[in-house]
Amino acid sequence: MSAARSVFRGARSASRVSVRAFNQPKAFSPTFTAIRSVSNSVKQDYEIVSEKEVPVTLYTKDGKIEKIINVDEATAAHKDEPVAGAFESGPCEPLTKKVHDTMTPTMKSMSVMGKTIVVTGAARGLGNNMARACLEAGASNLIIFDVNQENGDMAAAELHKLTGVPVTFYKVDVRDEKAVDSAVEAMYAQWGAPDVLINSAGIADSNMPLETYDREKFRRLIDVNLTGTFLICQAIGNKMMKDKKKGSIVLIASMSGSVVNYPQEQSCYNASKAGVVMFGKSLAAEWAKYNIRVNCISPGYMDTALNNVPALDQQKKIWKELTPQHRLGSVDDLNGLAVFLASDASKFMTGSNVLIDGGYTLY
Ligand SMILES: NC(=O)c1ccc[n+]([C@@H]2O[C@H](COP(=O)([O-])OP(=O)(O)OC[C@H]3O[C@@H](n4cnc5c(N)ncnc54)[C@H](O)[C@@H]3O)[C@@H](O)[C@H]2O)c1
Repeated sequence: MSAARSVFRGARSASRVSVRAFNQPKAFSPTFTAIRSVSNSVKQDYEIVSEKEVPVTLYTKDGKIEKIINVDEATAAHKDEPVAGAFESGPCEPLTKKVHDTMTPTMKSMSVMGKTIVVTGAARGLGNNMARACLEAGASNLIIFDVNQENGDMAAAELHKLTGVPVTFYKVDVRDEKAVDSAVEAMYAQWGAPDVLINSAGIADSNMPLETYDREKFRRLIDVNLTGTFLICQAIGNKMMKDKKKGSIVLIASMSGSVVNYPQEQSCYNASKAGVVMFGKSLAAEWAKYNIRVNCISPGYMDTALNNVPALDQQKKIWKELTPQHRLGSVDDLNGLAVFLASDASKFMTGSNVLIDGGYTLY
């Protein structure tokens, strides 16, 4: 057993909580239980996050397995290794080998057949929809990193049930470097390096005039959107290099990294996403020598929970008026592009920042 695996512990009944039964895989018990971190992990405050444990839930044909990674033990076990660096639901039909075999070479290259794919922020929203799309395009293994235990567990259970593909959920706050490293070590011990990383975890602050912007909120947003992107890319990229994978990293930035939104004031969000875009381009140049591609998707206004705030209702009308297609993007509007960037069809593409915004940035 590897060092990382040895840190897995059995599920702790003391910290179990019942979760609303929701599309449980048939093989599972009728009362769906999930492990909550013993520390107060879904933080609403703005402290530096430092978990002691990372709960893992693994769904395979053999059933559901729950584990706890002890962050300190996992970190100690790998301290000598060099470091280079609202729940969605719906159909999800996996691409079968039989169908894949009948596809033309071009269509095959646009699939992600047999790939292991990590999606952060896939407990809901755009990340969840891109994860579904990857399963429909042939992914043979899905790994979800998200801070939301309940949504993450439900997403993993549902996607495994619908597709039969192994889906593992790690409850990780992307700001927490020890937790990120520990989860990536555990993932690596279990599955090896992934072929693809889609980094969708992110938060937004809008209608925040700079003159009164809470300083801690500013730091927190940069920490999740930019530092989190760095931590995840570094940890996963190192594993891709170690296994000599021809990796594809897809960073979910925003059109706010390229244009200033109107009418709301949100300088910090815009700065964080501009940082993601430039980080992606720089990393693409640095990691081309390792055969790892890095591209950004920059969505316009999307109709997700992130924007489902009554305070934004009036502004949404303005956003639609300023968008040539006169609508917000649907939650699945990034799916095709995400799969394309993950797939070998985009193998000559790296360092690109693709705007997908219904034409908003044309005016
Ligand atoms: N919705 C939009 O209009 C829009 C537009 C442009 C870009 N984006 C970007 O797309 C990405 C996804 O947005 P969405 O609309 O799906 O949002 P969402 O809030 O619906 O989903 C975000 C997911 O990220 C997770 N998450 C948040 N903070 C985390 C953290 N610290 N660690 C780990 N997981 C964390 C959440 O639990 C959630 O599951 C974000 O990066 C966002 O900035 C969204």
